[in-house]
Amino acid sequence: MSYDVAAVRARFPALRAGAAHFDGPGGSQVPGSVAAAVVATLTSPIANRGRTTEAERNADDVVLAARQAVADLVAGDPGGVVFGRSMTQLTYDLSRALSAGWGPGDEVVVTRLDHDANVRPWVQAAQARGATVRWAEFDPATGELAPGAVGGLLSDRTRLVAVTGASNLIGTRPDVAAISALAHSAGALTYVDGVHLTAHAAVDVAALGADLYACSPYKFLGPHCGCVVASPGLLETLHPDKLLPSTDAVPERFELGTLPYELLAGTTAAVDFLAGLGGPEGDRRARLGVGMAALEAHEDRLRDRIEDGLRTLPGVTVWSRAARRTPTLLLTFEGRDAADAYRFLAGRGVNAPAGSFYAIEASRWLGLGDAGGLRVGLAPYNDDQDVDRLLAGLGEWLDS
Ligand SMILES: Cc1ncc(COP(=O)(O)O)c(C=O)c1O
Repeated sequence: MSYDVAAVRARFPALRAGAAHFDGPGGSQVPGSVAAAVVATLTSPIANRGRTTEAERNADDVVLAARQAVADLVAGDPGGVVFGRSMTQLTYDLSRALSAGWGPGDEVVVTRLDHDANVRPWVQAAQARGATVRWAEFDPATGELAPGAVGGLLSDRTRLVAVTGASNLIGTRPDVAAISALAHSAGALTYVDGVHLTAHAAVDVAALGADLYACSPYKFLGPHCGCVVASPGLLETLHPDKLLPSTDAVPERFELGTLPYELLAGTTAAVDFLAGLGGPEGDRRARLGVGMAALEAHEDRLRDRIEDGLRTLPGVTVWSRAARRTPTLLLTFEGRDAADAYRFLAGRGVNAPAGSFYAIEASRWLGLGDAGGLRVGLAPYNDDQDVDRLLAGLGEWLDS
């Protein structure tokens, strides 16, 4: 399947402002169809969910459609799709519910590669319950998190393994399926942070062995909200704090307060946009598979072009080195501050921020402290001209 990047770009109103966006890992630009879905929800009759009035049915239909869309995106069960404000908020909520039965002697495994949103909630939940935290380290030279680095920490007291599907700092895609198999054989659950991965690859939660899989629509062309996908059976076993009159049904029991219906409609539109990359044939899940494969090939080609260009520039270190990784590059510059490059590029309409992007453990483990580096991330709308602008801007900065 070919990838028509010009046709893709034409669907993003924000690109008309002219910037070359390499800031997708922080949050992507949004297609017009996503914005239109948000507006349509807010300009149609809307009420709290129900089936009596048209306004109630609109709200209910939006929620059910969004659960189905996210389920199609990650091959999950729509009855186990939980929506919330952000991945961070949902992970905190679920960490409290999942840790309710933990006590002294129980163990949780977190990794040094993860965004802090899949670290700190577990560390703090363990502390609150007197449980022990074990840290799985990645190899700073290769960026790889070996399954054995997690496997060696497991015991029959391990209750949960929290691991990323892909690093938002250096792009590493650990072998989550192998890690999950190890965790399951020890009797532990897996909580997979799919926020970065979902934007770049076709996801199948069962193939990953993810008991709970978290992602954020605003990283894959959607609005600012979060979701977690799990089996309804697992969710039934968890009992979060909730208001007395609110339903105890799953997944609603985890969705505190009124859902942002307009953002859920936008989420469905974002999934439909990604499915549209796969052409018109087949059901949405099948089109997502084709579309994400075409997107991956496009992004990998652009990443290769960036890496080739960077090799011609003096004093650039690329920290993204794992064999399997997303098109997200972390760069540092000999004797120069990455934050200066960020500002210089911004002045030329090239958006590539510097920092450690909340992957603070990973940045420190790489020896980059809290400053991190310059992050160059690709998204569905990036093209060769963007890459030319990035490389020219970096060359100019290095010469200055
Ligand atoms: C890998 C990863 N995990 C988690 C998060 C947090 O997501 P949210 O903003 O939805 O809480 C981010 C956001 O940058 C991320 O990149």
